[in-house]
Amino acid sequence: MPQDEAEAAIKAGRVSVNGRVATTPLTPVPPDAVIKVDGLPVRKEVPSHVLAFHKPPGVLTSTARQHRTGTVFEILLPQLPLELNRFTWHAVGRLDVDTTGLLLFTNDDKLVAHCTSPETNLPKRYVATVFSVADDAKVEPLRQGMMLDDGPARPAVVRVRDEHTVEVTLTEGRHHQVKRMLGAVGLPARALHREAVGDITLEGIPESGFRLLTDAEIREKLHYTGRAPAGPVSESEDA
Ligand code: URA
Repeated sequence: MPQDEAEAAIKAGRVSVNGRVATTPLTPVPPDAVIKVDGLPVRKEVPSHVLAFHKPPGVLTSTARQHRTGTVFEILLPQLPLELNRFTWHAVGRLDVDTTGLLLFTNDDKLVAHCTSPETNLPKRYVATVFSVADDAKVEPLRQGMMLDDGPARPAVVRVRDEHTVEVTLTEGRHHQVKRMLGAVGLPARALHREAVGDITLEGIPESGFRLLTDAEIREKLHYTGRAPAGPVSESEDA
């Protein structure tokens, strides 16, 4: 319901929160509150929020077991201000324990599906430091689309930055995919770092730090329009 309609409904005494008639617009409402208009329950839109986190090496990307030690949650959650700590955060895909770089978190499971599904074609840009000497001929199979042991990999965009540094951009994300692709052409990775997801980068985010993306970034840089825009983070919103 648009804000002006909601305010008019509240003023007219048509809205109740947990059985009590609401009297004041913009009053924070608990996440599990039952809201009714004219006696009928309304579905509360939960806004989507996304955090861009700079994963350090040596920590696991866990999804469900948030409180397990040695995980990204152990570093991220204590840093969150109260208004962000109220949400249930899900990692958007995974990075290997030794992989560093951009890992997104969201309170919106549809956004996880959007960003991780190969159907969405959202590019993920990695940079690998490789043991052997890389050149265009060696990485050509990655560009053509190569067979991996779990099926064909889509053609990747690959740039040899220097003889030990290879940039690989994928639109899919299978287990150890970049390492397996590079390993298959004789370029085992010594280190792997994710620089970007869509057009979101780590610019301005120090290692182990995070920032909250804006609605415009979620829409324009992750191409996600699945839920209501978040607007300012409010204490009354939760996943
Ligand atoms: N590909 C890998 O091999 N490892 C990662 O962590 C991410 C992509």
